[in-house]
Amino acid sequence: MVYLAALGFVLTALSTLSTTLAASIPAPRAMVVHEERELPTHFSLAGTPSPDTHINLKIALTATNMSGLEKVAWDVSTPGNSLYGQHLNYDQTRAYVVPSPETISAVTTWLNENGITNLTTSGAFNEWLGFTVPISTANSLLQANFQKFSEVGGPRELTRTLSYSIPVDLEQHIDLVYPTTDFVRLSKGAKFQVHKTSDKLATRTVPTSCQSEITPQCLQDLYGIPKTPATHSWNDNTLAVSGFLEQYAEKADLEQFLAKYRPDIPPSTTFQQEFVDGGMNPQAPLMAGDEASLDIQYTTVTLMASWTWRTSFSINDTTPGVLTTSYSFNEGDLTPALANNLCNVYMMLGACGTSILYASGDGGVSGGQSESCTTFVPTFPSTCPWVTSVGSTNLTMDGAGDLVEAAATFTSGGFSNYFSTPSYQNDAVERYLTDLGNTYSGLYNSSGRGYPDVSTNGVNFQIIMDSLPLVPPIPLSVDGTSCSSPAFASIIALINDCLIAAGKPRLGFLNPFLYSCTEVFNDITTGSNPGCGTNGFSAMKGWDPVTGLGTPNFTRLLDAALSA
Ligand SMILES: *[C@@H]1O[C@H](CO)[C@@H](O)[C@H](O)[C@H]1NC(C)=O
Ligand SMILES: *[C@@H]1O[C@H](CO)[C@@H](O)[C@H](O)[C@H]1NC(C)=O
Ligand SMILES: *[C@@H]1O[C@H](CO)[C@@H](O)[C@H](O)[C@H]1NC(C)=O
Ligand SMILES: *[C@@H]1O[C@H](CO)[C@@H](O)[C@H](O)[C@H]1NC(C)=O
Ligand SMILES: *[C@@H]1O[C@H](CO)[C@@H](O)[C@H](O)[C@H]1NC(C)=O
Ligand SMILES: *[C@@H]1O[C@H](CO)[C@@H](O)[C@H](O)[C@H]1NC(C)=O
Repeated sequence: MVYLAALGFVLTALSTLSTTLAASIPAPRAMVVHEERELPTHFSLAGTPSPDTHINLKIALTATNMSGLEKVAWDVSTPGNSLYGQHLNYDQTRAYVVPSPETISAVTTWLNENGITNLTTSGAFNEWLGFTVPISTANSLLQANFQKFSEVGGPRELTRTLSYSIPVDLEQHIDLVYPTTDFVRLSKGAKFQVHKTSDKLATRTVPTSCQSEITPQCLQDLYGIPKTPATHSWNDNTLAVSGFLEQYAEKADLEQFLAKYRPDIPPSTTFQQEFVDGGMNPQAPLMAGDEASLDIQYTTVTLMASWTWRTSFSINDTTPGVLTTSYSFNEGDLTPALANNLCNVYMMLGACGTSILYASGDGGVSGGQSESCTTFVPTFPSTCPWVTSVGSTNLTMDGAGDLVEAAATFTSGGFSNYFSTPSYQNDAVERYLTDLGNTYSGLYNSSGRGYPDVSTNGVNFQIIMDSLPLVPPIPLSVDGTSCSSPAFASIIALINDCLIAAGKPRLGFLNPFLYSCTEVFNDITTGSNPGCGTNGFSAMKGWDPVTGLGTPNFTRLLDAALSA
């Protein structure tokens, strides 16, 4: 719906964001619906908030030249391009992303007209404008209808609107308003399993270190990961691990883990922490989280230089070489505008030389977690073409009685409804879809970005949690794509270490490189990812939306990286 009203008022150049309300009340502006959606099935209406309840809103301002940054991001990430590896620094990125003075002024003027003058800025480039207003003001400003919604069978209540509008003349200046139409639920990937001790299997194809459980030594043997630690300091080669949801990583547990599984590394080896947005990581008995313990312990497996524990980070000259995150959303819970805004941040990080890795999710074709569904549920950020999505494999018996890597049944994979197939995977996806034929037609989007991109083992990882001083720790077994993303991230960080030693730039955004050297992966051709009452997609020869290109062979991946 477009509300027509008299246009016409004069933009004034504003030197600060906080200005006083103009003396005369300007005419209302023509408005246009910016985002609208139907109520997602996992939320129900829970009432109308009092009109004078306050709500914190943030406006994402459009970037000066996002399409220019996108071009540069492709150029620096595509092997063979003359700019390959020439990642941007903070100031170069800023020039593309910072909102223009016209944009800041236009949006500030509109807010001031509506009596909103106390504005805050946030984001790496001050691209978010924040303010606090009564619900009644938010409703009239945005022609919205903010209501309370509660999660079906869950604890959360959100204040959201199913639609909002912005002035027609500000469409080019406003990316989105948040929180409005998103209904996100963050899910972690790690799941406890009953510890397996007695199912040792005879095999010729899998290292003996992997026969009953997955440990650091098993991963080294399975993928050929060197046992010598990285040589470069965290200044050049940080591997960052995101933490959320009150999941805490305990240094005491890491020490016990190293003593048990990496006796060659000093057990005092530890990680650095950086807190954002009120994040914390208290060190105390019985505070450890399964996800946090897993993520920190398996990034320590290979890289012993140093790590950073962060809840998020800003883009500047010290961006990490690798960032791994084991949490995901269902794509449809976000709106296309919000997904796109976040995806652009991953693009910026890629342009700056950071490899962004995400666990693909643990619900097979039903999304982040196993849920009932009528069409396949893609997970975000895995569907963002600028991240590398990591799925899981499992060791299983083949017909000849040998252990082989197959798809793990929980591994999420499929196709985006928001992002189209990026050029780097066009051939891979087309080949898979040709083989798939009409199977599952209507349940997934055949023009969407396919994920995951790669996989590593993700079943029966041993972790140490809530260990006590002087008592031998009892390992716990966990499953999930949360095992796989830290493992793959560690491999990339070690490859970066070798590249730096060879005087070469780090890998940065990985996907154009990975899809240009598919032969370095162990192709996984058995297993599938059931969900939504189906058997899910099947792993096949070549890329598939279950295990991606396959699992890494370190030596071959390193050789390809050195010659890219
Ligand atoms: C945007 O960036 C591209 C790539 O660097 C550049 O060619 C183009 O001139 C820029 N456009 C504007 C309006 O600055
Ligand atoms: C302006 O907003 C900030 C952050 O929301 C708040 O702390 C501060 O008290 C506000 N100032 C005024 C004058 O309202
Ligand atoms: C990696 O690939 C090389 C070359 O094909 C092979 O010799 C080696 O055994 C592989 N390593 C592992 C751990 O599979
Ligand atoms: C980079 O970001 C970190 C974390 O926010 C900050 O401590 C550091 O000062 C920043 N460096 C530059 C050059 O802006
Ligand atoms: C892994 O393989 C074993 C042996 O075939 C099987 O029992 C188990 O269900 C599989 N687990 C997953 C998560 O794929
Ligand atoms: C399928 O994906 C394309 C490309 O991202 C998108 O334009 C289209 O809207 C999607 N279709 C549905 C039904 O979601």
